[in-house]
Amino acid sequence: MKTKIKAIALALALALGLSFTALGVVAAEVQALRHSGAAEPDQAPGIYKVTEGAKLERAYRQQPPLVPHPTDKYEIDVKVNQCLRCHEWPYSDQEKAPKISDLHYIDRNGVRQDTVNGNRYFCKQCHVPQNDAKPLVENKFQAATTNTNIR
Ligand code: HEC
Ligand code: HEC
Repeated sequence: MKTKIKAIALALALALGLSFTALGVVAAEVQALRHSGAAEPDQAPGIYKVTEGAKLERAYRQQPPLVPHPTDKYEIDVKVNQCLRCHEWPYSDQEKAPKISDLHYIDRNGVRQDTVNGNRYFCKQCHVPQNDAKPLVENKFQAATTNTNIR
């Protein structure tokens, strides 16, 4: 029953929103993230420098750790993965790099393999170089360590 009420409320809100947009009331306030008109060339994005020599904290327990070094020169494709030459054991010992955790070796059936599994092969899907980029959109996100609402 509750879900039904929610659904009706949502439908109403949508319908109202749409009619306002049609009247141009809401549309005037909408601003595209690219900050330029559709026909103008895009502004060049800001230059972000990787924060090195420091470790930014994880915002929540399951977060893939940020990369504290540049990654643009390391090739990752079906033939080569240069991240592995430092982060996979035994190279990790030689390079004094943190070893990839065991979860990276588990396939989708939960079976432990001896090589990094395909579902964790493309490292940059999850690990991004750290920098102090400001949020694109104003938001209320808080790290789990400081968010008192979830305790
Ligand atoms: C030349 C060796 C080398 C290569 C290649 C390399 N790394 Fe690293 N990486 C390190 C070292 C050493 C550290 C430890 C921190 C430091 O000294 O910068 C590190 C730290 C990290 C961390 C932080 C781990 C943690 O527990 O906080 C991540 C994530 C990471 N690297 C991901 C990558 C990815 C993704 C690639 C490929 C795009 C890559 N690294 C390529 C040497 C390397
Ligand atoms: C699907 C997302 C995903 C991909 C892809 C992925 N990782 Fe991770 N990685 C994580 C998560 C989540 C953690 C933290 C929890 C854990 O240990 O699994 C992590 C942890 C790590 C750590 C820290 C281990 C530790 O014990 O502190 C390193 C180093 C690392 N990954 C390297 C890599 C490298 C190199 C690749 C590419 C071969 C890669 N990861 C691909 C999600 C990913």
